[in-house]
Formats: sequence, structure tokens, C-alpha cells
Amino acid sequence: MGLKTRPLSWPIGEEILDFDIRDDHSAETIAELRDKLCNRGVLLFRNQDITIQEHIKFTSYFGDQPFFPALQRNLHPEDRRIWIVTNIRNDDGSESYTRNTGRIWHSDQSFMPEPCMGSLLHCKEMPPVGGDTLFANACVAYDQLSNGMKKLLEGKRAIHDLNQASVYKERPPRTAEEEAQTPARSQPIFRTHPETGRKLIFVHPDVVTHIEGMTKEESRPILDYLAAQVSKVENTYRHQWQVNDLLFWDNRCVQHYAPLDYDQSDRSNRRLMYRTTIAGTAAY
Ligand code: SIN
Repeated sequence: MGLKTRPLSWPIGEEILDFDIRDDHSAETIAELRDKLCNRGVLLFRNQDITIQEHIKFTSYFGDQPFFPALQRNLHPEDRRIWIVTNIRNDDGSESYTRNTGRIWHSDQSFMPEPCMGSLLHCKEMPPVGGDTLFANACVAYDQLSNGMKKLLEGKRAIHDLNQASVYKERPPRTAEEEAQTPARSQPIFRTHPETGRKLIFVHPDVVTHIEGMTKEESRPILDYLAAQVSKVENTYRHQWQVNDLLFWDNRCVQHYAPLDYDQSDRSNRRLMYRTTIAGTAAY
């Protein structure tokens, strides 16, 4: 087909131009998009005025959309494959459970046995200023490590534990039953992208508690260094949303972060996003 594209930044991200996700797409087009996703980490499709079923259908070209235990609150009442990320209060006046989602660098579902492959976030409402999302290329970050650091941590694993993450403590607490569905999980510190074969840093702050075989105190400086390496400004792209943007990111090589960069106490600053999430495979 020959997609028309333009880079969003040097290290990460590609805008796909003149593209309507609602069309019926050939296997060739999907393969080309998949290749761009794997190599550029983030795809942007602007002006996608879509229904939830069109969002789900486009997502299904890239994989299954199973139920994720950590995403069981704020699912769309009409279809549980849509997860609603919003600061808009619930009908009963209570705060939205997802109003502070993503307030730390992370890769979606990294604590699951098979972390998800990708996420597609569609913008429905956005404050006039702020509400941005930042993305970082964890392959570029790996490449920049010294050979000594690569050698030191090669083959080492770290523990991802959602139940310990402080960012989740600010929310209404997760129930014991929910916590039981997300036990601590060992993952490789350096992951290999299953499609490009590139190595990448697969740890991030907060959810990753320590390196296997080390204490938390010993692990922390190393984990902090790796996290800082990933989120270096030079390795990132900051997306300023427009309504009807659809962003597709590859969780296998990208981390993202949604800073609180607007006044959330001002109720006119409404932010409403719909997300689909694609199944992945075990990290190695
Ligand atoms: C997320 O972490 O999936 C949500 C990011 C955002 O709302 O910008």
C-alpha cells in the first residue's frame, strides 16, 4: 500500500497520514502498520471520529483483547474491551477510579505473566491546556548503556508487584480478591522485543520493587538509574492531544507517563479517553 507517514520525534513515534481506521484493511496494510509500530514504538492517527465498535474492530487486526485483572474498574458499560480513563466524576458524584492513571513511567501490564502487546488510546475530551502523555523508547535507552552495565545485568531479573505500587495506594484500595489476581512476578531486566529482536530496558519505577537476589536497598540505585535512562528527555516524545486522536503504542518497547499537567480541581478541565488493550506474550 505504501503508508504516508512522518516522524513525531527522532527516537520514537510516527504519524500515519491520510488514514481512516474504519476502512477494511488488507493484510499488507496491517503488516506495514505492525512493522512501523515495532520499529517506531508509537503510531498516531489524527481525526478518527470513531465509535467504540470501530475502535475495537481496528484493535482486533493486531491481536486479541482479553480481560485484564488490573483493568476491571471503569470498563465501558456497553463493551468491556473498552477501558475508560477519565477525571470526570461518576454519576453518583464520586471520583473516577482512573482519574490519576499513568502518573508514573510504566509499561502496561508488565506485572502479568504475558504483559500486553499494545494499547490504543482514543481521545474524546481534553482540557484546553495539558493532559499530555509522554512516551519513551526503551530500546534506544538500552543501546546507550555501557557494555559494563549491560554485562552486569544480563540475565538478571526483577520483581514487578502492582500490589506494592504507591501510585495505586492513592486510589480507592484494591480489594484482596483483586490483589490476589496480580501476584508479584519476576521479569527479565533486559527484554528482547519478540518481533525486531532488539534488546530493551524492561523496568520502571514504583511497580518494580527489587532485583532478584538483591535487597531493595541494593536494587534501588540500579533501578533508579535504569528508569532515568529510559525517561531521558532525549529518548521521549510528548503528545499534546487533540480530540479524536488515536495513539497506538507497543508496550514491548515503549514506556509512557501521563503527568498531572493541568488543574484537576477545576471541573471544567474534563479529560476522557477510551483504551483498548492487546494480549501479549511472555517476556524473555
Ligand atoms: C495509560 O497509562 O494507559 C493512560 C495514559 C493517559 O491517560 O494518557
